[in-house]
Amino acid sequence: MWHWKRRVCSGSRLRRQSLLPRRLRRTLARIMLSLFLLALAATAAAQNLQNTSTARAPTPRREQFRVIYEWNAIDFQWASPEEREAYLNTSRYIPRNVLISGINFYGENLFLTLPRMLEGVPATLATIPVRQVDTAPKLSPFPSWSANTLGDCAALQFVQNVEIDRNGIMWILDNGRIGTLTQKPDTKCPPSIVMIDLKTGKNEMERIPLPKETVNASTSYLNDLVVDNRDGDYAYITDNSAVDPGIIVFRRSDKKSWKIRDSKSMLSVSEAAVFRINGTTINLPVNIDGIALGPQFLTEEGYVDRTVYFTPLSSFHMYAVNASILRNESLSSTGDGAIRPYIKDLGTKPSQTDGMKMDSTGTLFFGLIGNSTIAEWNTTTDFRVGQRTIARDPNYIQWVDRFTFDDSGNIYVVINRLYNFIKNQVSLDEVNYRILKSHTGTKSYIFSPDVTPVAPSPHGAATAPAVCASLLLLAFAHLFA
Ligand SMILES: *[C@@H]1O[C@H](CO)[C@@H](O)[C@H](O)[C@H]1NC(C)=O
Ligand SMILES: *[C@@H]1O[C@H](CO)[C@@H](O)[C@H](O)[C@H]1NC(C)=O
Ligand SMILES: *[C@@H]1O[C@H](CO)[C@@H](O)[C@H](O)[C@H]1NC(C)=O
Ligand SMILES: *[C@@H]1O[C@H](CO)[C@@H](O)[C@H](O)[C@H]1NC(C)=O
Ligand SMILES: *[C@@H]1O[C@H](CO)[C@@H](O)[C@H](O)[C@H]1NC(C)=O
Ligand SMILES: *[C@@H]1O[C@H](CO)[C@@H](O)[C@H](O)[C@H]1NC(C)=O
Ligand SMILES: *[C@@H]1O[C@H](CO)[C@@H](O)[C@H](O)[C@H]1NC(C)=O
Ligand SMILES: *[C@@H]1O[C@H](CO)[C@@H](O)[C@H](O)[C@H]1NC(C)=O
Repeated sequence: MWHWKRRVCSGSRLRRQSLLPRRLRRTLARIMLSLFLLALAATAAAQNLQNTSTARAPTPRREQFRVIYEWNAIDFQWASPEEREAYLNTSRYIPRNVLISGINFYGENLFLTLPRMLEGVPATLATIPVRQVDTAPKLSPFPSWSANTLGDCAALQFVQNVEIDRNGIMWILDNGRIGTLTQKPDTKCPPSIVMIDLKTGKNEMERIPLPKETVNASTSYLNDLVVDNRDGDYAYITDNSAVDPGIIVFRRSDKKSWKIRDSKSMLSVSEAAVFRINGTTINLPVNIDGIALGPQFLTEEGYVDRTVYFTPLSSFHMYAVNASILRNESLSSTGDGAIRPYIKDLGTKPSQTDGMKMDSTGTLFFGLIGNSTIAEWNTTTDFRVGQRTIARDPNYIQWVDRFTFDDSGNIYVVINRLYNFIKNQVSLDEVNYRILKSHTGTKSYIFSPDVTPVAPSPHGAATAPAVCASLLLLAFAHLFA
């Protein structure tokens, strides 16, 4: 509602301008024109960030990224050499089919996701130490080997991404369906969110299957998520289903979920479906994929809100929507277009983006896949002119997938040459997976500061428990009366 009001305001400002004397108006017009040209030049600079020969290219403000881990193929900590051999003999481990996709951090470990897109992936979630001991460490299945057993619905089946919230709770997206890149994807178990409280050290898994009305087990693809630790804890999850893409909203307090759809901002577009990278061309129309969550802010009405940023993989546009809109469950049952007035197109970027990550100060980090680039954007600035290249390297930055922060001000990024994997041209004679690291001095958005509301949130479970609590108080008051 609010931005309609704002549009009216700027209209009236324009009308007021026309009351100014003609000379002043002409001067104003000239200033406006030069501002416009400046903006154009800045846009051009932003769009040419990847052109290192351009004098205007800003000097990187960040410490350079450096490779901390690299693998030709992913291997594991096996119980014994015989077990490894047995897995190899029976095609339960096919080294060239194991791809690292997602990354996260907690305590002493980096968590890596290994989606079972092809057969022969023995575990779908694993850890390596965050402190470097070896340049190609073997992965330890997490929480355990047995918790990664294929076909066991108490175990993890297909994990694309995980998030770890500020309370040490790991939120795991388990699609339940494997072989997504094969002719016969196989739905082993219901798509679920799996929770692990990492603080306890017990690593017990709580599996929460998502309802059929929200998530179709044979077509949904739970891709990435952000966690919003307010009002009972929400996750906003991108579902890049080819037939029904959207943002799934999941509230932890009552385990309710719903899906918000918008065909305009959440679908791939044909002009961005072709990727050219390291001599390979690939046509990949992929819907809504990367997602990020901005810091809390106070609305005019006095409640706390946050901006959710998202982009389809095959798109050049960045979109934003307020979390309060996604939290309005009734917008999930209305037709396509109901949410459209609330989605902002922030403008374009030079290339396609897979993963992105917000830091605690509101700076967004994202990849520009076709440009071998890692970029950042201070979200308080205009997206069209505020994008900055922080790393570009055609040999080391070959498909930027996911990012994470640790607790000492470092950012990590997974580079995985996904185009080779999809085209079935992985060569084990080359480095296929890398983790790069840089110092930003910031932490994940998860730790961005809380803002104190002066009015209750229009959506959120917080209101219900508050009512219950006051009823309870009332009951106690009666007892003591
Ligand atoms: C890169 O910059 C050079 C020199 O300014 C220019 O000639 C060239 O066209 C630019 N290339 C691209 C792709 O913008
Ligand atoms: C794996 O296969 C090889 C060759 O067929 C065989 O010699 C070996 O005993 C097998 N190992 C295990 C652990 O099954
Ligand atoms: C899931 O999607 C498939 C394919 O579009 C469809 O046939 C099936 O009915 C859907 N299942 C549910 C529960 O909606
Ligand atoms: C979110 O809401 C605020 C006001 O509460 C508004 O200024 C802002 O434009 C909204 N953001 C989006 C992406 O619509
Ligand atoms: C950047 O990526 C886009 C889309 O992948 C591509 O069209 C463009 O040529 C790339 N620019 C450079 C300089 O690599
Ligand atoms: C982002 O921009 C705002 C003003 O535009 C500035 O105050 C803030 O320091 C910037 N953040 C960073 C991390 O540079
Ligand atoms: C692809 O990347 C590899 C590894 O960085 C490099 O050796 C090779 O020259 C690249 N090929 C092309 C066609 O760019
Ligand atoms: C939620 O969306 C519905 C449908 O557009 C709207 O009528 C309602 O006012 C919204 N609720 C809030 C609290 O914004």
